[in-house]
Amino acid sequence: MELEMKHMELKAGDKLKIKGMVLHDADRFQIDLGWDEEDLALHFNPRFNDDLDGNVFVCNSKMAGCWGDEKREVNCTLHKGAEAKIVVTFTGDMFEVELPDEQQVHFPNREDMDVIKYLRIRGDFKLTSFKIC
Ligand code: GAL
Repeated sequence: MELEMKHMELKAGDKLKIKGMVLHDADRFQIDLGWDEEDLALHFNPRFNDDLDGNVFVCNSKMAGCWGDEKREVNCTLHKGAEAKIVVTFTGDMFEVELPDEQQVHFPNREDMDVIKYLRIRGDFKLTSFKIC
């Protein structure tokens, strides 16, 4: 699936709550937050068959179309075929991603984006609800 929102406004202190199901044959999906598709403060990318790490959360940022340095978390608590609730809190300095089993992945706001205007959720995930609060 793919959901893309432009001209949104996510500010420091706001949360994005996402619910859905990881597809049974999932390879990867991603939640992207930034200014537009070439400028992302957070690319949160669960992978289920990664060449290097198998099941892994890959996080990165992208500026003017160029990826930064990846941050990888191999203790991946999302599983194929499972329901998932993911909450992303934008603190201003950081993105705090809350996952099943109380796992959290933190990623710095490397480019100091003060407002997130762009959201994209795409890949092997069936979205059932999302809200910004
Ligand atoms: C690349 C991949 C992109 C993105 C990026 C993150 O290898 O093609 O989709 O996930 O890694 O660093």
